Amino acid sequence: MAQTNLPEVSSKPFGQDGKALDGVRILDFTHVQSGPTCTQLLAWFGADVIKVERPGVGDITRGQLVDVKGADSLYFTMLNHNKRSITIDSKHKQGKRVLDALIKTCDVLVENFAPGALDRMGLTWDYIHKLNPRMIVASVKGFGPGPYEDCKVYENVAQCAGGSASTTGFRDGPPLVTGAQIGDSGTGLHLALGIVSALYQRMRTGRGQKVLCAMQDGVLNLARVKLRDQQRLKAGPLTEYSQYGEGIPFGDATPRAGNDSGGGQPGRILKCKGWENDPNAYIYFITQAPVWEPICDLIGEPTWKTDPEFATPKARLPKLNQIFGRIEQWTMTKTKFEVMNLCNAVDIPVGPILSMKEIAEEKSLRDTGTVVEVDHPKRGKYLSVGNPIKMSDSISEVTRSPLLGEHTDEILKDVLGFNPDEIEEIKKSGALSAPKKEEKAA
Ligand code: COA
Repeated sequence: MAQTNLPEVSSKPFGQDGKALDGVRILDFTHVQSGPTCTQLLAWFGADVIKVERPGVGDITRGQLVDVKGADSLYFTMLNHNKRSITIDSKHKQGKRVLDALIKTCDVLVENFAPGALDRMGLTWDYIHKLNPRMIVASVKGFGPGPYEDCKVYENVAQCAGGSASTTGFRDGPPLVTGAQIGDSGTGLHLALGIVSALYQRMRTGRGQKVLCAMQDGVLNLARVKLRDQQRLKAGPLTEYSQYGEGIPFGDATPRAGNDSGGGQPGRILKCKGWENDPNAYIYFITQAPVWEPICDLIGEPTWKTDPEFATPKARLPKLNQIFGRIEQWTMTKTKFEVMNLCNAVDIPVGPILSMKEIAEEKSLRDTGTVVEVDHPKRGKYLSVGNPIKMSDSISEVTRSPLLGEHTDEILKDVLGFNPDEIEEIKKSGALSAPKKEEKAA
């Protein structure tokens, strides 16, 4: 039954009644990419995300792939918008005091430390749940329970262990990882869904729960069509894979399919005008059965519409090289955008291969806020990807990432309610600042 205990319908115009996650406070213990992707999404939806960072160092990505000396890297800034930063040494007694206060006041703790690291800080589930039974504790780990649960994991490890690499690339080449960060950002995205679901369930149960996303599982979820194909192999060759048409036998595992389409319709990446000098002058072309006739007309092969050698998808399968070769003769006479326009005019879906330069300059992506320009006090203006999820009543504005510890004072005072003496005591203890050089050396 649909939920009935909802408040009155808001009378405010859409987009002017706050944000979806207003009132939700996140203790953000994340670093690098997977966890920060998750908490950035929650921040865009209005959650107050308090990023806890190690004094003096912060999230390691602040200093990775640096392009502007003395400024936080794009790696960091592009994953930590709309958050506040507090520095705490989580292993210091006074740091623990601040963390305990944060645990009591936050709704969700999100972390992606190496396995066991949170427990070693003393922040076990039992400890957290005792302090705040409503707390949701959300974690990214490389692997779920099992033989690899203790392993540290980065993006490409997950792509390989999640089945993506073995099914990406060309049959006669090595496995390939993809440029899209499906292990890190993909898992962060999954975790965000787990968190909002747990927040929803908490409205009924009153209690928090653990939310775990293993990167291997997240990648496998995104590669699910390849596990589909693994099982279809039992019923015979995968006829939509090019290798079937080429008469190459299948082995016992889902093979790499090059640029074949995963949806069962033959597809290829074809050269367009200018390909000799432009590495991205290509287009993805799908010979979808329902648009076969307009394709024949466009490429100048009208007889293929009725010729039994070409007229049916089954008849075409063994001739895909010939067919795509002919289509490519046509696409090579046009730019990828001309092909796009001509094909879309007759409902043939095609995908121009857009470079990151073209995407950065694309006006429509700027207009929708998917690509945004952000100003930063230390690095100046830079481009970022805004919230890709658009909601009509929860509008996302992208604000710059915090400097290291920028909000330490306001969080201690306004969020945690420590009085000036207490703040002084905590600060003096060294729990919020980097150890002095001599201390470090000692
Ligand atoms: N104060 C004091 N100590 C802190 C701290 C703070 N504010 N923040 C972190 N630390 C400590 C941790 O407690 C840990 O110490 P310990 O191992 O002695 O207990 C230490 O810093 C290192 O943390 P860890 O997460 O292990 O970082 P790492 O650099 O060794 O490993 C990863 C990095 C990403 C490989 C690892 O965190 C990981 O596997 N995470 C899960 C999977 C994941 O998210 N991977 C993708 C990242 S994009």
